[in-house]
Amino acid sequence: MADQIQWFPGHMAKARREASEKLNLVDVVIELVDARIPESSRNPIIPEIIKQKPKVLVLNKADMADEKQTKLWLAYYKAQGETALAIDAQHNKGLNQLEKACKDLMAPYFEKQKEKGVKPRPIRVMILGIPNVGKSTLINRFVGKNQAITGNKPGVTKAQRWLKMGKVFELLDTPGILWPKFDDPDVGKKLALTGAIKDQLLHMDDLALYLLKVYTNRYPQLLIEKLKLNSDQIAHSESLVDLLLHITQKMGLKDDYDQASIRLVNEYRKANLGLVTLDLVPSEEIS
Ligand code: G4P
Repeated sequence: MADQIQWFPGHMAKARREASEKLNLVDVVIELVDARIPESSRNPIIPEIIKQKPKVLVLNKADMADEKQTKLWLAYYKAQGETALAIDAQHNKGLNQLEKACKDLMAPYFEKQKEKGVKPRPIRVMILGIPNVGKSTLINRFVGKNQAITGNKPGVTKAQRWLKMGKVFELLDTPGILWPKFDDPDVGKKLALTGAIKDQLLHMDDLALYLLKVYTNRYPQLLIEKLKLNSDQIAHSESLVDLLLHITQKMGLKDDYDQASIRLVNEYRKANLGLVTLDLVPSEEIS
């Protein structure tokens, strides 16, 4: 289970400090986000922390996102000059591509070092992101791939373990954890729907209604397929609340829409309601 700490200002300052300290030790940062909410799962202060450090933006959990939207997001980030790619850490997909991206980013630096006669050394990498985006899973995949732990680096006061990944990489074994930002109510809902923040922070029926808004606007076919609704029921529901009540009855829960909301949200989290991306690239955003 991902860390579900309460982010008070003191925690944020500490997380920021720790991330900055770790950053000093590495060559490349892997910024991990959830492919279903690539923007909402980004901590906005990351650029401030990272500054000019080479970075790969990684959309994890691509297996749960809408493939078409993931492609649009990658094109969008590319247009912004970012190095971005999609992976599925849980099933070991895209890891080679990620290693290659880090290598490519560092190639000019190592080339220069070589010209100066400096012997090549492993590329030092760290993973940074908000809770639940899959940081530990990704580290474990890399460990599983090349199990080897190197010693502490001289001059580093805190014990930092480095995991050797082949001959080319060394990965810092503790990820940098940043807080999610949810001043915008929709961002809060998206974070809760993907499990990045605690359920208790929001009402389940609000989350269910938000899901129904997304599905009726963009994925009505999935409501038909997955919840066995017919298109008339979707079209003729006077409101999303009406639709939720209808689904509640269909689930055999009479008027217990709280229970139906919990079920809907849980099914979305398990990707049992289809592969749905909640964040849209700016040009595709619906009102
Ligand atoms: P974190 O370190 O960033 O906090 O995330 P962590 O690796 O703990 O991953 C959070 C949850 O996401 C885990 O589920 C993990 O299995 C799942 N996960 C990570 N990467 C992927 C991926 O690429 N695809 C899919 N489908 N799932 C992924 P969990 O063990 O069920 O934990 P939880 O839900 O109980 O927190």
